[in-house]
Amino acid sequence: MKLLIINGPNLNMLGIREPDIYGKRTYADLLTYIENLCKNENLEAEVFQSNHEGAIVDKIQDAYGIINGIVINPAAYTHTSVAILDAVKAVGLPTVEVHLSDVSKREDFRKISYIRNACIKTFSGKGFDSYKEAILYLKDYLK
Ligand code: DQA
Repeated sequence: MKLLIINGPNLNMLGIREPDIYGKRTYADLLTYIENLCKNENLEAEVFQSNHEGAIVDKIQDAYGIINGIVINPAAYTHTSVAILDAVKAVGLPTVEVHLSDVSKREDFRKISYIRNACIKTFSGKGFDSYKEAILYLKDYLK
C-alpha cells in the first residue's frame, strides 16, 4: 500500500510561523513523525510539499495508477483552490483532508474547504496527530 502525503504552502515554515497556532515543531520534525508512523504501520509513503498550486495539481495527477490513497493538507489552498479539488476528483483516489489547527474555530474564511467535496474524511485541530488519524483512517479504508 503506497500513500502520498501532500503539504501545501507555508507548511515548510513550521516552527517559525505562528507557533501559538501551529506549534514549535519544525517541518523536518513533521517528516520524521510521518516516517516513523508509516514504518510502524508497514506503509510506504511519499511526502511532498510545495508552495505552488500548479505543482500540487501536477503531483496529484502523477499519482494516478501509482498511489493507493492521498492525505492532503492543502494549507491556504484549502480555502481557495478549485484546481486542487478538480485534480483529486480527476484521479479518483481516496483522499483524506488534514489540518494542524482546528479550522472550524478560526476565521470565517477558513471554514470554507473546497477540497472537502472530494474527501472521504477530514481530521483537524490535533497538530501532528491529525496526520496520524488521517493516515490510520486511510490505511483502514484501503484494506
Ligand atoms: C492549515 C490551516 C489553513 O487555514 C492555513 O492556511 C494553513 C495551515 C492547518 O494545517 O491548520 O496554512 O491547513
